[in-house]
Amino acid sequence: GLKKKEVHVLCLGLDNSGKTTIINKLKPSNAQVQDIVPTIGFSIEKFKSSSLSFTVFDMSGQGRYRNLWEHYYKDGQAIIFVVDSSDKLRMVVAKEELDTLLNHPDIKHRRIPILFFANKMDLRDAVTSVKVSQLLCLENIKDKPWHICASDALKGEGLQEGVDWLQEKTV
Ligand code: GTP
Ligand code: MG
Repeated sequence: GLKKKEVHVLCLGLDNSGKTTIINKLKPSNAQVQDIVPTIGFSIEKFKSSSLSFTVFDMSGQGRYRNLWEHYYKDGQAIIFVVDSSDKLRMVVAKEELDTLLNHPDIKHRRIPILFFANKMDLRDAVTSVKVSQLLCLENIKDKPWHICASDALKGEGLQEGVDWLQEKTV
């Protein structure tokens, strides 16, 4: 058959934001796992959209592993950045990590698309995706295409919209 174009994606964000849960839900149901545990280091995952074949570096968001992220920036063609919308206390930490990412020499001058998931929208404490984008100051990102989707990774809500956007922006 026709081979889909391959795209390397980095999945970043703090621990417990829901990165692995999101990537798992994007796989065909027969490839999904039931029990998701905190990622150690990183894990390489694959999923497909209608025209693309994504290879995802699902990085651990734990503090002690975050220094691994930058080693994979060079090969990344797109970024998925996941935020726990209910974790107001650590939103500032998420912003710090995002700013560090955006200022990294391997990212700074490249027009790579960044898809944000304002995840855990099902939780009562969750703030809206508009609020998340304000707290992360996303309007300051002027040299890269970006998009934010509200998501509930447990139900899989909002994920397809994000992937559709990523597919459209990935050239
Ligand atoms: P690290 O691998 O440690 O960086 O974490 P992660 O970002 O991969 O988070 P993970 O996918 O392991 O999810 C962390 C916890 O949040 C798990 O208990 C998930 O079930 C839960 N979770 C993920 N997404 C959602 C969501 O949309 N809503 C709710 N309520 N819980 C979620
Ligand atoms: Mg994980």
